[in-house]
Amino acid sequence: MAVHKIAVLAGDGIGLEVTPEAKKMLQIVGKATGASFEFEPALVGGSAIDATGEPLSDATLSLCEHSDAILFGAVGGPKWDKEPQERRPERGLLRLRKELDLFANLRPAKCFAMLVDASPLRREVVEGTDLMVIRELTGGLYFGEPRGREEFADGGARAINTMAYTTREIERVARVAFDVAMKRRKKLASVDKANVLIVSQLWREVVSRVADDYPAVQVEHVLVDNCSMALVQHPTHFDTLVTENTFGDILSDEAAILAGSMGMLPSASLGGKVGLYEPVHGTAPDIAGKGVANPIAAILSAAMLLKYSLNRVTDADRIEAAVLRVLEQGYRTRDIHSAGTKLVGTVQMGDLIAREVERAY
Ligand code: IPM
Ligand code: MG
Repeated sequence: MAVHKIAVLAGDGIGLEVTPEAKKMLQIVGKATGASFEFEPALVGGSAIDATGEPLSDATLSLCEHSDAILFGAVGGPKWDKEPQERRPERGLLRLRKELDLFANLRPAKCFAMLVDASPLRREVVEGTDLMVIRELTGGLYFGEPRGREEFADGGARAINTMAYTTREIERVARVAFDVAMKRRKKLASVDKANVLIVSQLWREVVSRVADDYPAVQVEHVLVDNCSMALVQHPTHFDTLVTENTFGDILSDEAAILAGSMGMLPSASLGGKVGLYEPVHGTAPDIAGKGVANPIAAILSAAMLLKYSLNRVTDADRIEAAVLRVLEQGYRTRDIHSAGTKLVGTVQMGDLIAREVERAY
């Protein structure tokens, strides 16, 4: 049977705590099904800066390129905040996305019934929310040229980033979005700022053209400011969303908190040969090292890895079902804890879910 080579890049902060819990699930799947997983750990982000002087070494990049999938934790932290832009931990992740051509970032945000009360929104507003944000990940404002900073003689300065897209870049992420929407409720909101930005006008034009190939999908074009409001006012209106890199960065955090906690939301970055799977929450320096972080986002990311990179859909479903069962049993990490539920730490939550996954086979 084929060996699945998984690069494990836990990174920094709580990435180091939640990634082992995600890996645990893959090991259980391996044991139960006979599938063989080979895990290769590597440094990325701040821990890589400390060890090698750069946030992503060529060796780590090459390891990733030669793996079947990447299990990623999180990067960054106050320790490296003073690093120059090009050497910040976040650069490691950005370079990985770019080099591996991971142009489509899928961020599902689903409000679990038993966690409705963890959401900052009222039950009647948020109940039933089930979104998929598709964020363009290798272009737009994050990568556009020109970029840089010039210093003026008078002590002032001018800094530039550029939001740029080619037709091809928009078209390929739009196709991913339509394909995803076809498997969901066939509703796609394309989010832009076409009333102001030329790049958004092109975005709208190309998305409309691609839409002709998907007559079954109901498409709407929404301005990003209006979308951010509508997401808190009437989140159940939306199903699949597709948008520019920075807009997607912002809207996906908003979608995440609607669903109760950032600690619940996984993501998949796709497009190139090797997919990357990471929880949406970051390194959470305030709780790092305390063993209290919620591993569910990382665990659900491992489920996405099984589904999208290894085509093991039923194994992925088992992990998702196990997460639900443990939540139904009343176990909660600190971020989703409320009166009457049982408070557990990172490893304990991972073990509880692992036990349920084992039982499912
Ligand atoms: C995310 C993060 C990253 C981003 C950071 C860590 C570079 O916020 O994945 O949403 O801005 O893309
Ligand atoms: Mg972000």
